Amino acid sequence: MKKILITGGAGFIGSHVVRLFVSKYSDYQIFNLDALTYAGNLENLKDVQDAENYHFLKADITDDQQIDQLFVKHQFDAVIHLAAESHVDRSISDPLSFVKTNIIGTVNLLQAAKKHWGKDVEGKRFYHVSTDEVYGSLGEEGFFVETTSYDPKSPYSASKAASDHLVRAYANTYDLPVVLSNCSNNYGPNQFPEKLIPLCINNIKNEKPLPIYGEGLNIRDWLYVEDHARAIDLVFHKGKLSQTYNIGGHNEWTNIDLVKVLCDVVDKQLGRATGTAQKLITFVKDRAGHDMRYAIDASKIQNELGFKPSLQFEQGIEKTVKWYLENQDWLDNITSGNYQHYYDAQYKSR
Ligand code: NAD
Ligand code: TYD
Repeated sequence: MKKILITGGAGFIGSHVVRLFVSKYSDYQIFNLDALTYAGNLENLKDVQDAENYHFLKADITDDQQIDQLFVKHQFDAVIHLAAESHVDRSISDPLSFVKTNIIGTVNLLQAAKKHWGKDVEGKRFYHVSTDEVYGSLGEEGFFVETTSYDPKSPYSASKAASDHLVRAYANTYDLPVVLSNCSNNYGPNQFPEKLIPLCINNIKNEKPLPIYGEGLNIRDWLYVEDHARAIDLVFHKGKLSQTYNIGGHNEWTNIDLVKVLCDVVDKQLGRATGTAQKLITFVKDRAGHDMRYAIDASKIQNELGFKPSLQFEQGIEKTVKWYLENQDWLDNITSGNYQHYYDAQYKSR
């Protein structure tokens, strides 16, 4: 019976990974460790919370003693580490919490794995889930490959880059069995509505302005979250030790084109006239140091592990919009209280 620690399992991507592992691997015990910050929501896991192989541990990865005690108590065989502060705009206003969670939190987990696994690393694995933002920003041409030099440009991406370096340092120095992946932008159900797609769906529904930073020409490469979870499953089970796998959607969009598609899909699903939502598009002050373009060359994971995204973007967006419109309670719960303070602070002065 393998005991797998998944950190950040109450968040957006983590909840899809937990669901996949709990339902697919009944012979694994899955431990979801999460501090339940503003971004963590156990409602995301309602459908698996009673499964026999699922356990929730409320804990903070910045607390080294707590993490150590949990390793003593549960004797984890593997870690899939997703817990992080994940929003670039928040990292601009509060970089220190990104340093604490993303860097110190990762080192605490690495230390605990090193200490408890010792030299007996047969069957053990520390999987660090990271982002393509560590590679910096592309111009009009080219793609990020696994060997692209790191050039992070926001406090978020710098803290993730530091955590990636530390994971590799533990493999090199202490022979910790690690594997990493760096993924492009995810979208889909359960994403906190501070990120572009759920924020716009929520605002369209409520007929509020859609804030587009700068001229809306920045480009992101979007992958449906369940495809990312499938890729994580593959890298975890089949990825070679000490290797990094880039994961992407071959799906580049300028923000403005993406938001226009989103507007039309929401209008259609709400039975509003086409063009209604697009009238809400509002260009606002750009994000400081806004990365121009991210795009992943995902040939390594495709060639070595056979991974390909399963959904076309149009299908993924239809599914995503449908989920947010059908899960009004989820959105209402999340956007009540502190969300409004965050929203006012971020957007009032733009
Ligand atoms: P998220 O913000 O939705 O979720 C993060 C989760 O981590 C939350 O449940 C939160 O409660 C938990 N957490 C935060 N600080 C913690 C702490 N100190 N201790 C324990 N738990 C803590 O993030 P996400 O979008 O699901 O991203 C998950 C991971 O994937 C992150 O490491 C992120 O860098 C990476 N990633 C995200 C994307 C994306 O597009 N969202 C793309 C590539 C990689
Ligand atoms: P986001 O979802 O924050 O992801 P990331 O910055 O990690 O790529 O943003 C996606 C893109 O959308 C990014 O170029 C910034 C832009 N954006 C807006 O134009 N308006 C918004 O309100 C937000 C949140 C993002």
